[in-house]
Amino acid sequence: MSLTFRWQSPSNIALVKYWGKRDPQLPSNPSISFTLDACHTQTHATFEPGQGIQVLLNGEDAPNFVPKISQFIERIGHRHAWLGDYSLKVDTVNSFPHSSGIASSASGLSALALCVVDAALALGAPLQESDARREASILSRLGSGSASRSVYGGLVVWGATHSVPGSHDEYAVPYPHAVHPMFRTFRDVVMLVDVGQKAVSSTAGHALMERHPFAQQRFNQAHQHLSDLQSILRDGDLMPFLDLVESEALTLHGLMMSSQPSYILMRPNTLHIIEAIRAHRLSTGMPIGFTLDAGANVHVLFPAEVEQKAMDFVKQILAPFTKNGRYIVDQVGTGPVPLTDQAKPK
Ligand code: PMV
Repeated sequence: MSLTFRWQSPSNIALVKYWGKRDPQLPSNPSISFTLDACHTQTHATFEPGQGIQVLLNGEDAPNFVPKISQFIERIGHRHAWLGDYSLKVDTVNSFPHSSGIASSASGLSALALCVVDAALALGAPLQESDARREASILSRLGSGSASRSVYGGLVVWGATHSVPGSHDEYAVPYPHAVHPMFRTFRDVVMLVDVGQKAVSSTAGHALMERHPFAQQRFNQAHQHLSDLQSILRDGDLMPFLDLVESEALTLHGLMMSSQPSYILMRPNTLHIIEAIRAHRLSTGMPIGFTLDAGANVHVLFPAEVEQKAMDFVKQILAPFTKNGRYIVDQVGTGPVPLTDQAKPK
């Protein structure tokens, strides 16, 4: 019997960063992210009795992705032994350009994990339908830690911490506390400073936290930040929110710069953009801030209520610091959606 399942799943951007892990892909500290909307992956996964893995990316055979998918299937095999009897064809399309420097692991692996869970349910695996999303988060996490957060919309927490009831190291949960509606409207404009391959992978960066001189302080700080966010998110305290999020981004890069060996992923234009954002916030009072991923690109964050003015600033002042004036406009999204036949990847 051939089974096909189809999901669209988004990327996410961490506000409090996961940096450092232990086996099996468990986080050293809790994290919280905004799920994105425009940056997503659509995946059609077909399972047939037999062996082998085939990957199509944007409609073309992509054999170089097979080892990554095989590794993922191996890692989740202890929870889904049935996969050993099935071949897998993954037909996947990213909404963002491959050369954009945007990681597709969170969206791609969560989309595939959602397909695997649907297949498991269809094959009668001992899994309750009500636990399906949690299972998809567990499987996504085993592929790429941050992918665990992509299976829900809005604000999502991964990693056990006292201030967030229900939070867990093995899976992500929707942020359970009250959130001011303005945070549901946040925009994330990704300024594409450097679109090449990262000099140091996230995997290598996480590993460097094992003997990092500031590791324990940092892990404590992340718990504290999650706790501090509770009243900030509830009350819509924009400036403290941006201060905390920027401090998280700079801490992430500070950890890289103080690892042994040390490394720098920011580029000169990353700093130009950061300084321009801070100067603009100071001089105008506009609630606009930034975060950074493990790379040189800058995520510009602001609520919808200042969209027009913020986008003028992005276009006129920030875009000249990017590669060929390129940026991607995104916003907080509502999470993965199952696709119908009509929505087959093009
Ligand atoms: O999921 P990974 O292993 O690619 O690590 C991602 C780490 C950061 O993006 C830097 C932070 C985060 O929480 O997403």
